[in-house]
Amino acid sequence: MTRDQRVVLVTGAGGGIGGAVARRLSRAGIRPLLTDLSEPALARVAAECGAAPSRTADLRTAAACRELIAWAVAQHGRLDGLVNAAGVWREGPTADTSEQDFDAVFDVNIKGLYFTSAAAVPHLAEREGFIVNLASDAGIQGNTGAAAYCASKGAVALFTRALALELAPKGVRVNAVCPGDVASPMLDFQARTYGGGDPAGYFARLLAGYPQGPGRARFIQPDEVAAFIEFLTRPEAAPITGALLSIDFGYSAGK
Ligand SMILES: NC(=O)c1ccc[n+]([C@@H]2O[C@H](COP(=O)([O-])OP(=O)(O)OC[C@H]3O[C@@H](n4cnc5c(N)ncnc54)[C@H](O)[C@@H]3O)[C@@H](O)[C@H]2O)c1
Repeated sequence: MTRDQRVVLVTGAGGGIGGAVARRLSRAGIRPLLTDLSEPALARVAAECGAAPSRTADLRTAAACRELIAWAVAQHGRLDGLVNAAGVWREGPTADTSEQDFDAVFDVNIKGLYFTSAAAVPHLAEREGFIVNLASDAGIQGNTGAAAYCASKGAVALFTRALALELAPKGVRVNAVCPGDVASPMLDFQARTYGGGDPAGYFARLLAGYPQGPGRARFIQPDEVAAFIEFLTRPEAAPITGALLSIDFGYSAGK
């Protein structure tokens, strides 16, 4: 490692988007530090990133988030960036939402993201670093049948904006990317769990909502999101902070 190589922690690094981000950052000369709930997925991505340091963590408690950041800083003595890509999906009518599902969505999508970011702030301030949060199109518009998920992602969106203002005087940038449907294990989970035994039909219903129309609509690839996030780490992205950046084929542009 050279002295000026930047160090970026990626949560959800065993997942579709987090894994793609880790690989992109690694190729761009950044040293990724990886974490996920899933050990096998994490080990696979760590190997793909040249044996990047990795650590499993369940980010549903503030204590786990703080321990993770302490571990991250101990790896190379610095932390230049944080990409919060851990997340879970639940859907179903609001009247039927269990407390367990509500807590699952809120504990990972916003509580874990909040406390991981909070613990990272002093270290990022030393480096004039950055945070990129995975929000969603569901964080800036309603998705029918996914109210808890939408509420958690809406919280991510406004947390991003508030933290960007708070940290601007320290030179730390905070942005959120808001993807539409990304071809990832999460999307497969959605179709498998909520597709009524017809995953292909579930996918088709999602794609029917895209402005491209039949034949042209497709899911976003994880690396298309990762490429954009990699851009946000660059010096050229200095003016971009407090932004909710859509990557969704125009899905959230209107109707
Ligand atoms: N896939 C999509 O269509 C899509 C669209 C918009 C936003 N997003 C968001 O992007 C992020 C990444 O999604 P993805 O598509 O890569 O999903 P994914 O399921 O492939 O990856 C998410 C990762 O988060 C990890 N995770 C779950 N619970 C955790 C916990 N308690 N502690 C630590 N890690 C935990 C999982 O193990 C998984 O590897 C999520 O925040 C998701 O909500 C996804």
